Amino acid sequence: MEHQTNHNNQNEQDYGDNPLEVRESDTYQDEYVRSFVDKWDDLIDWEGRSKSEGEFFIEKLREHGAKKVLDVATGTGRLPRAILRQPPFDGRIIALDLSQGMLDEAVRRTAQFSDRLTFIHQGASQLPFKDNRFDAVTCIEALEFMPHPMHVLDELIRVLRPGGVLLVTNRIGPDARFLPGRAFDPDEFEEILQQRVLEQVKTRTWQVDYSLVWAVKDGTPRGGGIRPLPDILSCPHCTGSLVREADSFRCEACGRRYPVKEGGIIEMAEVN
Ligand SMILES: C[S@@+](CC[C@H](N)C(=O)[O-])C[C@H]1O[C@@H](n2cnc3c(N)ncnc32)[C@H](O)[C@@H]1O
Ligand SMILES: [Zn+2]
Repeated sequence: MEHQTNHNNQNEQDYGDNPLEVRESDTYQDEYVRSFVDKWDDLIDWEGRSKSEGEFFIEKLREHGAKKVLDVATGTGRLPRAILRQPPFDGRIIALDLSQGMLDEAVRRTAQFSDRLTFIHQGASQLPFKDNRFDAVTCIEALEFMPHPMHVLDELIRVLRPGGVLLVTNRIGPDARFLPGRAFDPDEFEEILQQRVLEQVKTRTWQVDYSLVWAVKDGTPRGGGIRPLPDILSCPHCTGSLVREADSFRCEACGRRYPVKEGGIIEMAEVN
C-alpha cells in the first residue's frame, strides 16, 4: 500500500511510516476517512479485479450451495458487489465493517443490490450473529489489520454452519515480515486452519501479496440458508436475541437498541 502523507488537513489521515500498522482504537471510525476510501479503490483497481474475483467466489459458493454469505471487513463492498452482479448467485449477503466511511461508500456502490444486501457497522472481534448461521464466510485482505486475528478467525468459524465454506486471505510477500502474528507462512496458515474445526483446507495465490485459503467447517451439515434477520443476529454485548422494531433492533436480554441508519446500515459499534 502506498504511503499517504498528511498535509495537516483534518480530513486526511497520516498513515505513518508503517501503513500496515494495526489501528483498532476509539477513534477508529474517524481514521478511515473519505480521502482514504477513494484512494483505496484506486489502489485495488475495483473494476479490473472484481470480475475474476467474482467468478472464483461464485464457483466456491455454488460448490457449497451457499445462499447466505457473511463478508467481514467488507470495506467498500467490493466482494458483495462482485458476487451479487453474477446471475448464478441468487442468495443474500450480510457485510460488516468497523469503518463508517467505508460502509457509506459501500452503500453507495451497491445500491442496485440493496434488497439482497445488509450492512452492519461493527468490529469483527464480536460478530453479532448466532452460531452456525452462514453458508459461507469471507474475510478478504483484512485479517492482518486486526489486533487479534486468531480470535477473529474463531469468530468467523463460529458463525459458519457445519459444511459451509470459509474463505480468508493471508498476507504474504515482502511486507509480511512486519506483521508477526498477523501474517503467516502459507504452510503455517494452513496448519492454523487445520487445528480448528475445518477440513479440506486449500490455498491459492491471490492478487498481489496474498494467499487465499478456503476450507469447509467440519460436522453434519445444518443451519445456514436464507432466514429473517432476527433469526441470525445476536447482541454483540450480551449475545441475547434481537427483535425488530420500527427503526431499530432491540436486545431482548439487555434492552440495548441498535438503530437502522441511513442506507439501511445497522449501527452496533457506537452503541455502548
Ligand atoms: C484493506 S481493506 C479490505 C476491504 C475488503 N475486504 C476488500 O477486499 O476490498 C481492510 C478493511 O478491514 C476493515 N477492518 C479493519 N479492522 C477491522 C475490525 N477490527 N473489524 C471490522 N473491520 C475491520 C477496515 O475498515 C477496512 O475496510
Ligand atoms: Zn444485549
